[in-house]
Amino acid sequence: MKLIVGNWKMNGRRAALAEVEAVAAAADTAGARLWLAPPATLVMAAADSAGDRIAIGGQDCHHAEDGAHTGCISAAQLVDAGARFVILGHSERRANQDESDALISAKANAARAAGLDVIVCVGETEAERDGGQAEAVVGGQLQGSLPSGADGLIVAYEPVWAIGTGRVPAEADVAAMHGFIRARLVARYGPAGGEVIILYGGSVKPDNAATLMAVPEVGGALVGGASLKADSLLAIAAASA
Ligand code: 13P
Repeated sequence: MKLIVGNWKMNGRRAALAEVEAVAAAADTAGARLWLAPPATLVMAAADSAGDRIAIGGQDCHHAEDGAHTGCISAAQLVDAGARFVILGHSERRANQDESDALISAKANAARAAGLDVIVCVGETEAERDGGQAEAVVGGQLQGSLPSGADGLIVAYEPVWAIGTGRVPAEADVAAMHGFIRARLVARYGPAGGEVIILYGGSVKPDNAATLMAVPEVGGALVGGASLKADSLLAIAAASA
C-alpha cells in the first residue's frame, strides 16, 4: 500500500477540520495509507479528530526540546499535540527560511529522538536540472540533511520546478532519481536503507497519480494543493491502489 501524505502548507483554518474528518472517515477503504500535515494551529484539533484513523503531523520543528526560541515549535511539543510525524527541509523552507542541510539534519535527529517519523524533502531547481546537476544536488542534500539512523525515516523527492506548477517530470526521470536515492540510502544505512519509503512530490493530482505511483521505487506521494480537499486526496489514494 502506498503512503499518501497531504502537506497543507500555510493553508487551512478551523473550517478545514471538516476535510480532516472526511479523510479520516474514509481511511479504511482509501486504498492507501493517509497522513495529513495541517498548519501548526490545527495540529492538535486535527489529531483529536483523526484519532487512530490517520496520522497527523507537523510541517517543521525546532532542533531544541524547549527554550528561548520565540515563534518556534519543538518536536516534543508536536508529539504533545498528537502529531506522529514531521515534514522537514521542504524546498520552500530551504529557500525562504534559509534552512541548511546541517540544520535539517539536526531537526531530523531531534524529531526522531522525540518519537516522530520524519519526512526529509530533497529536490533540484529547474536550472540545476537543466545544468545536469540534479543528482549532484540531491546527493548533497541527502548527504547533509538526513538523520543518523534509517528507522522512522521517509525521503520525499520533490523537484522544485514541479511544485505548484502542474508540471511533472517524465516517468523515466522519476525512476532514475528514485533509484539514485535508493542507492544512496543503502550505501549510507545498509539494508535498512532499502526499507526507507521514498515519496514523490510535485503537482501530484488525481489524473496523474496512477502513472507516478507505478514508477519503480515510488512508495507514495507528498501532495500539496490537491490535499486541501478530502475528495481530491482520496481520489489520489484510490488511483495509487
Ligand atoms: P503541489 O502538490 O501543490 O505541487 O505541492 C507539492 C509539495 O510541495 C508538497 O510538499
